[in-house]
Amino acid sequence: MKTKITELFNIKYPIVMGGMMHVGRAELAAAVSNAGALGILTALNSKTPDDLRVEIKKLRSLTDKPFGVNLTLLPTLVPVNYEEYIRVVCEEGVKIVETAGRSPEPLMPAMTAAGIKVIHKCTSVRHAIKAEKLGVAVASVDGFECAGHPGEDDVPNLVLLPAAARKLTIPMIASGGIGTGAQMAACLALGAEGINMGTRFMATKEAPIHAEIKKAIVEGSERDTALILRSLTNTARVYKNKIAEEVVEIENKPGPTDFNDIKDLVQGTRGREAMDSGEINGGIWSSGMVQGLIDSIPSCQDVVEKIVTDCRFQVESRLRNMI
Ligand SMILES: Cc1cc2nc3c(=O)[nH]c(=O)nc-3n(C[C@H](O)[C@H](O)[C@H](O)COP(=O)(O)O)c2cc1C
Repeated sequence: MKTKITELFNIKYPIVMGGMMHVGRAELAAAVSNAGALGILTALNSKTPDDLRVEIKKLRSLTDKPFGVNLTLLPTLVPVNYEEYIRVVCEEGVKIVETAGRSPEPLMPAMTAAGIKVIHKCTSVRHAIKAEKLGVAVASVDGFECAGHPGEDDVPNLVLLPAAARKLTIPMIASGGIGTGAQMAACLALGAEGINMGTRFMATKEAPIHAEIKKAIVEGSERDTALILRSLTNTARVYKNKIAEEVVEIENKPGPTDFNDIKDLVQGTRGREAMDSGEINGGIWSSGMVQGLIDSIPSCQDVVEKIVTDCRFQVESRLRNMI
């Protein structure tokens, strides 16, 4: 395949693995990169910038293919020294960074000086335009379907992607709700130069999470996700388990939500423990609507090859025969 994304990142297929808290570790990023797509290491899975340096070296020992590092700039309970993480990324010679959650503006000078190509994850057209003005190389446009933080506008990809394509001159990656080759073909038709997937790569052999969590994704339908933290305008799409339902119930009570009433339920450490132990209801963990289209737990290589084969089939056979 040849698109602006394969050319820019020197990868075989225009498929990117989105940053994933707890999941986006060296093993998974390497498996995705070795499959000809772009694996992404999630920086904040490393407790300190020095730990990130170790994880980057580990990833390098597992693949000689291009990879990137995700730095998520969302509000955190414990302050994060983002500059230090980026310093390590630059020192280690990483050339692709995915930013998300907030404008990457303060970090752009350091990344530009180090020759880093920035992919910025945007949930709206206006954020994508702003990112382009800041000098990012690629906008990863994340529709309402996505796992994680879909923003507050609730615009799904069938409208968001072509709306963004009309306004952008930099290449666009489609993100959110994607897990099949037919969807990839649709995204390319809507103006994207590639796709980004989170949940699909979570349900793979190499994802470093408990088998019960992967099984829950396979068994979950497109209706089994919940939107939490809406009342605090920090919406997150997560797997609809008992904890997510409890959070939504508290948020739906009349009047403003007191964060202290949900703080213990939404703790990242609980979510992490749930993903490690396989206790589905142990905490909050992200999963997207695309789980309704996921019915197996293959290797990353098989995920990538099947999507590419099916995408080609859609374009070369099915659609071609219709028109
Ligand atoms: C378990 C999980 C954790 C995630 N953590 C992050 C994160 O830390 N930073 C980030 O930018 N996006 C995060 N995401 C979002 C993904 O990078 C990606 O944008 C999203 O999964 C795309 O939607 P999809 O799951 O429908 O493919 C996470 C997604 C999942 C499934």
